[in-house]
This record gives sequence, C-alpha cells and structure tokens, in this order.
Amino acid sequence: MDYGPAPESQKEAQAWLDQQGRKFGLFIDNAWTEPTDLFASNNPADGKLLAELTQATSEDVNRAVEAARRAQPAWQGLGGHGRAKILYAIARLMQKHARLFAVLETLDNGKTIRETRDADLPLVARHFYYHAGWAQLQDEEFAGHRPVGVVGQIVPWNFPLLMLAWKVAPALAAGNTIVFKPAEFTSLTAMLFAHICVQAGVPAGVVNIVTGDGRVGEAIVKHEGIDKLAFTGSTEVGRIIREATAGSGKKLSLELGGKSPFIVFEDADLDAAVEGLVDSIWFNQGQVCCAGSRLLVQESVEERFLAKLRARMDNLRLGSPLDKSMDIGALVDPIQQQRIAGLVETARCEGCDVYQPAGCVIPTDGSWFPPTLITGASTSAAVAQAEIFGPVLVAMSFRTPAEAVQLANNTVYGLASCVWTENISLALDVAPAIKAGVVWINTANQFDAACGFGGYRESGYGREGGREGMYEYLVPLSEDQRPAAPVVADKGKAKAAASADPFAIDRTAKLYIGGKQARPDGAYSRAIHGADGKFLGEVGEGNRKDIRNAVEAAHKATGWTKATAHNRAQVLFYIAENLAARGAEFAERIAAQTGAKNAEKEVQAAVERLFYWAAWADKYDGLAHQPPMHGITVALNEAIGVIGIVAPNENPLLGFISLVAPAIAVGNRVVVVPSEAHPLSATDLYQVFDTSDLPGGVVNIVTGSADELARTLATHSDVDAIWRHDGSAAGCAEVERLSAGSLKRTWTGGAKGRDWFSTAQAGGRTVLAHASQVKNIWIPYGV
Ligand code: NAI
Repeated sequence: MDYGPAPESQKEAQAWLDQQGRKFGLFIDNAWTEPTDLFASNNPADGKLLAELTQATSEDVNRAVEAARRAQPAWQGLGGHGRAKILYAIARLMQKHARLFAVLETLDNGKTIRETRDADLPLVARHFYYHAGWAQLQDEEFAGHRPVGVVGQIVPWNFPLLMLAWKVAPALAAGNTIVFKPAEFTSLTAMLFAHICVQAGVPAGVVNIVTGDGRVGEAIVKHEGIDKLAFTGSTEVGRIIREATAGSGKKLSLELGGKSPFIVFEDADLDAAVEGLVDSIWFNQGQVCCAGSRLLVQESVEERFLAKLRARMDNLRLGSPLDKSMDIGALVDPIQQQRIAGLVETARCEGCDVYQPAGCVIPTDGSWFPPTLITGASTSAAVAQAEIFGPVLVAMSFRTPAEAVQLANNTVYGLASCVWTENISLALDVAPAIKAGVVWINTANQFDAACGFGGYRESGYGREGGREGMYEYLVPLSEDQRPAAPVVADKGKAKAAASADPFAIDRTAKLYIGGKQARPDGAYSRAIHGADGKFLGEVGEGNRKDIRNAVEAAHKATGWTKATAHNRAQVLFYIAENLAARGAEFAERIAAQTGAKNAEKEVQAAVERLFYWAAWADKYDGLAHQPPMHGITVALNEAIGVIGIVAPNENPLLGFISLVAPAIAVGNRVVVVPSEAHPLSATDLYQVFDTSDLPGGVVNIVTGSADELARTLATHSDVDAIWRHDGSAAGCAEVERLSAGSLKRTWTGGAKGRDWFSTAQAGGRTVLAHASQVKNIWIPYGV
C-alpha cells in the first residue's frame, strides 16, 4: 500500500500574489515603490515563475536608511510598553495568517509544508511574543543601555521568514529601526510581512525592506547611516562584510556556515538517534547552517547504526513540498543542486561509497537531490570539511570519547553539535569539550527565542535570541560618555623622577612568555624615556616569532580555562594583594613614565579593578532556560580561548589591568602588548604574577611596536579574539580588517578613548560579553 497525495491548498497564496499583480516594489517608509528593474522569483519545485521583484539601487538603499533614521527617535521614544504592544500585534497577526505564510514560504523556497507549518511559523510567532516581552521589560532588565540606532539586516534563503523574525523582533524590541534585505531567491514572505507591519501599526520608516541580490547587501553594508549590521549567510560573504566594515565603528554580528558533528555513542538509543539524524540532516533538505552533516558513530555500533539509517533513508519521501506527507522537498535553486551534485561526484571519484535510496524518484521539473550517505571519506576530504548545504551526510567512526571530541572539533566551524548517549556523565563530559555554540543532547535542531543561537570560530559571532541576543541591538550609555580623546597625563609639567629613582639604572626588561622571562627573538631592545625625557630603561623589541611563542604558550595553558572560577578569583585577589604591597614603587614608576600626578590613584584603581574582576569571576553564571520543548537549555558563558590584547597607551598600569583582568577572570589566556610609550608598568608586573600563583602561559607579555605586534596577532590563526585600545583609529581598523581571515572576534576602542578610572566605562557586562561566548546545551528534562 502506498500513500495517497495530501496536498495543501495553494489557492489563498496564489490569490494573494495575483492581488499584488505578481510584481513587487520596495517597502520604504510604509509605502511601496513602483516595481522596476525586475528579477524573477520561481517556485523551485517546478521552476515556474511566482512573482517578480525589484532590484534596489543604492539610491533606494539611501532612501530606506534615511526613512529609518527619521523614524528612530520616535520609535525609541514610544517606550518599552508602546513597542511591546506593536510586537504583540505582529505576533498575533503572524498566527492569524500562519497558513498563508506557510504556503507562500513553501512555494517560494521549496521546503515542505510540514516544516513551514510546524516549525517555521510557530517559531516566528514565538520570536515576536518573546521579544514583545523584552520590550516591555527593557527599562528594568536593560537599564543603562540605548538602542544602537539604524540596523541593516541581511538574510539567506534557507529560512526566509524565520531569519527575518530572528533579526527584526529583537531589533524592534530594543528600539532600533531597520533596513532589511531578504535573499534574492526568497523574498515573498518578507513582502507579505511588510503588509503585516502596516496592519500591526508599525510607524512609517521603522521597518524598510529592500530586495535584490548581493549588490543591495553591499550598499547596506557600506552605508554610513547604518549603525549595526546583522548578517546570516555564507562564511565567504561574512568575511567580505567584516573587511568592508573594518574601522567604521559599526556593530556587527555574523551567523555563518557550519559542518556540525552528530555524535552517536555505543550506548545511545540507536532508533531515537536515527530519527534525530533525519531531523538533523534531512530537515530543509540539509540547507541548514547547523545541519548535523558529519555523523561520528562509535565503531562498535557503526555497522548496526548505518544499517538502520539506510533502512530509514529508504522510507524518506521526496516530492511535492505542498504534499503534507513529504519528508524532503525541493532545493532552493538549480545552482544549489549543481553545487551539491558536484561535491558528491568528487567524493565518488575519490573512492567514497555513496548511498542513495534506490526507490527515490526525482521529479523531472525543479531542483532536487536525494537523501545521500557518504562513507569511506578521509577526514580531510572536501565532503568532510566543506559546508555542502544539501541532504548529504558524511559518516565516520571513532573508538573513544576523546577521539570523538577530536574529530568533532576537526573543522574551522563551530556552530552546533549533537551528542547521543544514555549515559548522562558521558554526555555532560563531552558537551563542554565540543567547540560549538549549541550542543543538543539526545535531540537535534531545536530552536527557541529564549535560547541564544550562534557560533564559535568561523561560524561567526554574536547570538540571536535570549538575553544575549538583545545586547546585540543595544549600546551601553557609558559608551556615549567616553572622553573625546584618551586621558593622557600632562607630560610637560611632570616632575622628573627623583634622583634616587631605583629605576634609573640601565636594565632591559625581557618579554614574559609561558611564565618565564624571555629574551626577544631579534635580540633588539628599545629605550624608554620618562615624561621629562630621562632614560628609564629598555624593553625587548618583540617580533612575529615572539608573538608566535607567546600564542603557543597561551594555547598550552588550558588548565586555566578548566580551573574553577573560584580558583581564578583567588588568583586575581592575590595579584591585587601583591600589587598593593608594592603600590608605592608602582606609583613612582607610573609617575616617572607618564609624569602623572595621580599615580597613586592609578595604582589604587588598578588594585580595585582586580578586586572587581575577581568578584565577577565566580558570579558570571549562565542561565537555565525553559523552552517550550520538554527540556532545559543551559546557557553557559565560556571563555573564548586565546585573546590578543593591545593595551592603552595612557594609564599604563590601570589600562593594562582593566583589559587583562576581565579576560582571564572568565578563563581566557592572553597575549598582551602593553603601552608602547610606557611599557615598564607592565614589565614590572612579572614578579607580581610570579608571586601570585598565576600559572605560566595565562598572561604573556610582548613589548615593542603596537602596530607590528597587533598585525601579527590579528593574522595568527590560533588567536581567537583581538582587543585593541591604544587609541589608534587606523590600527583598530587594520586589526578589524585582518581579523576577517579567521573571523576572530574583535573589540576595539578606536580613537575615542575610555576613562579607565570609571567602572561604568571599563567594567560591566559589556566587557564580560566581549570576553566570553555563550554555549547553549539542550538537555532532556522531565520527559
Ligand atoms: P550568501 O552568503 O551569498 O547570501 C546570503 C545573503 O547575503 C543574501 O541575501 C545575499 O544577497 C547577500 N549577499 C551576497 N553577497 C553580499 C555582499 N557582498 N554583501 C552583502 N550581502 C551580500 O549565500 P548564498 O550565495 O545564497 O549561498 C552560498 C552558500 O553559502 C550555500 O551553498 C551555503 O553553503 C552557504 N550558506 C550558508 C547559510 C547559513 O545560514 N550558514 C545560509 C545561506 C548560504
């Protein structure tokens, strides 16, 4: 017996398209422009034309940005409750028109109606409800923050409406106005959403939607009137955007590609794991950034598991996406089909075994690809490393949990992962070891507005959803109060260090690498003079090799990341104590270098800052979310890894401590380039560190040219983030540009300095957010 067809009616959606004349202009300032310079949007299931859309020009983008700018103050001024009511109205309208949206999405994208109806649309509504809530609570829960301003949002075609909701809901809740660009293949639900905005009472200019290809995206990215960019799409374009925005001061969040591991241990419920895998790699035809595209199965059950999997694949139904009983729909476009076919063919030529269900009938029209399982690929093969973005699973085996983790992390990406085992200890042992923003335990592809989503490494940075997602659209008010220029002591009037200055002797401070003082590789040093021109000493002239050594030492110091927060707090308190004990000496050194009159105050502030971050170390707890699924999501703040820091020139002790302490408080290891002009306060810290139980390799210090050393840090593939706060606008722009190579996170101060004495400017959760990344671990609970 076979299934009969169970098609969902497309009457309403087709009627809506007819009503619109099947031609769409742009939605700017709550009005539609005349459709011009049209491009086609086809139904991928049959290749037929659905509608035509306008290719926006940069003039159009200008007008959209201007409209958004005009509308922003009033939207912000509406207050949390005012915005909450409108977001709530959007949520209600999305629910009311869910069927129309679901069918339109299926027609436009090719994904099955089962998915658009049961996954995309409920999640879309949930996002607007949830963020209506944040708008309502904004004054209370995000006090001390303001909206970023005008945000540019660019999304891909795989979840057209859901990605819109992920972007639009938090931006609106926080009080921003928007210029939004859907993907060129799939803009129709965004057009319908524009109508919903009008119905929901979104004021003119608050949401603007411009359609077109990458050129429109580029115009948004480069527009000076945009304060923040949120992008989801390919890693390649993410990189281009990072480079294009370097030095612009625009806030940026990137949600990029993935090659997520799906780990099955021998004690897993294998049948449940097979179903999980179906949801993981065949959901949306595998066109999912977090698709579990790499199966890692324990050798002892490999054969059994793969047999079950092949049997399940044989039962997957591929066909009309509007048929309610189909599992697999059409691919978004023939281009995607050709890309996937090319990668699978290469694997076949390389001798891999390619399994595709024999009974899978591919329709003649449209773009399709059968569910595919590849075995026998080497770990370095293209199919094992590249994001295929199709219904193609690559399977490998492992013997031990350690090997599973090693294979799981053998990728440049770090978006998501699945762990299947009935052993809770094993699951919770493996979860923290996987370098990915999301870990699903005994489940797959679960999403919720309350649980942040986003990647590690080349999967991008920033989170969507949850409290952390709101911060992406907010700016601390303290950022606005920064001084116009760095606070540098008045050199001219400074008194020369006393003639009895104990530092007047000629000595060369070495570098500090792996807890040891090290001679610079180049054997050069530079003279350091005081504010009065007096020679104070020499410091090593660090070079690329020294940075490499320091990064290697930092990499090895993993014990610090694994240490308890309590332990890290103790060490920070101890550093403060030892610094205070030598306070007078440090104050004299600061005075001699900078001529500062408030040198004692700076030492005191540095001691207090160490206490401040020691206090935070064991209080920066994560959250436990209770999403609608039966489970809990534990959101943990994890260290990023190795952070390269270029410390401020001014306040050579306080500036250094203000950046290093929060970074190490949450478990990072750092390579620091201290104040180029006044490095001796940092080199004097070596002994303080040595006597404070700080393990070797946690803090590494390389003195020398800030520009040159920053460049090396920014291009080093083993540095996970780079912070530059030495007041050099050109230098900050350069590290942002260079960071695009391995998509490191950056935190730069630009030319605008920071008052390092102010806890509001140098402390708080914003700094902690720069020092950490959130990992969401989904755990079954109460099922
Ligand atoms: P893409 O990254 O080119 O497109 C995503 C969005 O960015 C679209 O709206 C596009 O118009 C826009 N865009 C393109 N070039 C731009 C530029 N220079 N500046 C600003 N915006 C720009 O992704 P595409 O071409 O649709 O897919 C190519 C591959 O990327 C896929 O096969 C897949 O491997 C990967 N991909 C990954 C996604 C993810 O969520 N991780 C989503 C979509 C694609």
